[in-house]
Amino acid sequence: MSIWSPASWRDKPILQQPTYPNEEALNQVLHELRNYPPLVFAGEARSLKSQLANVANGEAFLLQGGDCAESFSEFGAANIRDTFKALLQMAVVMTYSGGLPVVKVGRLGGQFAKPRSSDTETIGGVTLDSYRGDIINGVDFTSEARTPDPQRMIRAYNQSAATLNLLRAFASGGLADLHQVHKWTLDFAHKGDVTKKYEALAEEIGKSLTFMEACGVTSKTYRTLRETDFYTSHEALLLPYEEAFTRKDSLTGDWYDTSAHMLWIGDRTRQIDGAHVEFMKGIHNPIGIKAGPTMDPDDLVRLVDTLNPNNEAGRLNIIVRMGADKVGDEKTGMPRLIQAIEREGMKVVWSCDPMHGNTIKSSNNFKTRPVDAVLREMKQFFQVHKSEGTFGGGVHLEMTGKDVTECIGGSFVVTEEDLSSRYHTHCDPRLNADQALELAFLIADSLKEAKQ
Ligand code: PEP
Ligand code: CO
Repeated sequence: MSIWSPASWRDKPILQQPTYPNEEALNQVLHELRNYPPLVFAGEARSLKSQLANVANGEAFLLQGGDCAESFSEFGAANIRDTFKALLQMAVVMTYSGGLPVVKVGRLGGQFAKPRSSDTETIGGVTLDSYRGDIINGVDFTSEARTPDPQRMIRAYNQSAATLNLLRAFASGGLADLHQVHKWTLDFAHKGDVTKKYEALAEEIGKSLTFMEACGVTSKTYRTLRETDFYTSHEALLLPYEEAFTRKDSLTGDWYDTSAHMLWIGDRTRQIDGAHVEFMKGIHNPIGIKAGPTMDPDDLVRLVDTLNPNNEAGRLNIIVRMGADKVGDEKTGMPRLIQAIEREGMKVVWSCDPMHGNTIKSSNNFKTRPVDAVLREMKQFFQVHKSEGTFGGGVHLEMTGKDVTECIGGSFVVTEEDLSSRYHTHCDPRLNADQALELAFLIADSLKEAKQ
């Protein structure tokens, strides 16, 4: 049996990695990163794990969302603030209407590296490396931009540190105080049905808070009214970077990947004998596994067993992303995965990623997602769990607090023609704040129903 170390993934077959032209420059950067301070503490990852254990037991709901890919060019306080506010709005809707505490995890502060369907891209007879995320290369279609540059890891680290710093300030410095519930509405919010619904709910919460204040329950006396716990996550794709941040916790002696609280393995890199599974095996953070339509139930059981041999609740989050037309299928969809996991008595969190199985090309050639399909997959996710007698415990979204036009449909309709007006994503299309809030109301209704 081989012994695990933060570098033992290097002996395994690996997919979706860049080839750096200069190994010496790469090693120099990795050496530097190994000496940088961690972005998160092991104790925080353990708190998240215990909150996720509540999710696994049906006592809380997991909301995970943020950019498909963070970028250097979109980096700024306004973007971070707006995504944070959109997540708070969603969480309060789910908590208040759905009646469950919500564990909040951003796809933020490190979500840079992207798996691609092809290693290269050809335009007008010119073939270059595919764009793999700002931590690896640039999105511009030039040979210079597309050449992997290790210095980008340093920039991604610095951006992650600044992002996390602001998120921590928002979470505990007053913005997340429940008394601010009215102020989480985003400036551009269309005065459509969803915003009105949110404002009505904020009004009700305001009244409850006034009543509670009269009873002596105030922001001063209760931390949970004043602050929130907010965690970060990203796909652990670029393993040299993740290895550099894998440190031994001085309290427990266990290894943690300190680049984020939670890491996940993508649908393309979940091979049981592959490098990514090897790496994730040894870190003690809570982790996710994406499960697309090709996930076989026996393979899933083997993966869960490998990654969570002690069957610890809160360690593993299975993020199902099959597409609206597939997720409910008895023979090929999620039911057989749930049945296999239940048969083994495995404790997991089940999340729904209603984005990645519903990507289409619009007639004017934009990569987009119909909000209808997103909502439909989410609804079916809950229905399947209901009929299996299990708990659909989380959602995993590509979304932003910005007023982008990347997904079509929604209550404030974005049309195919609108796509070109504010299409900013560096990778996959994200729900805008209105669309995300609409989904939050649907989830709240399903949670309420599941409780009854
Ligand atoms: C993603 O979450 O951006 C992603 C690439 O997902 P998946 O691994 O499910 O395709
Ligand atoms: Co994506």
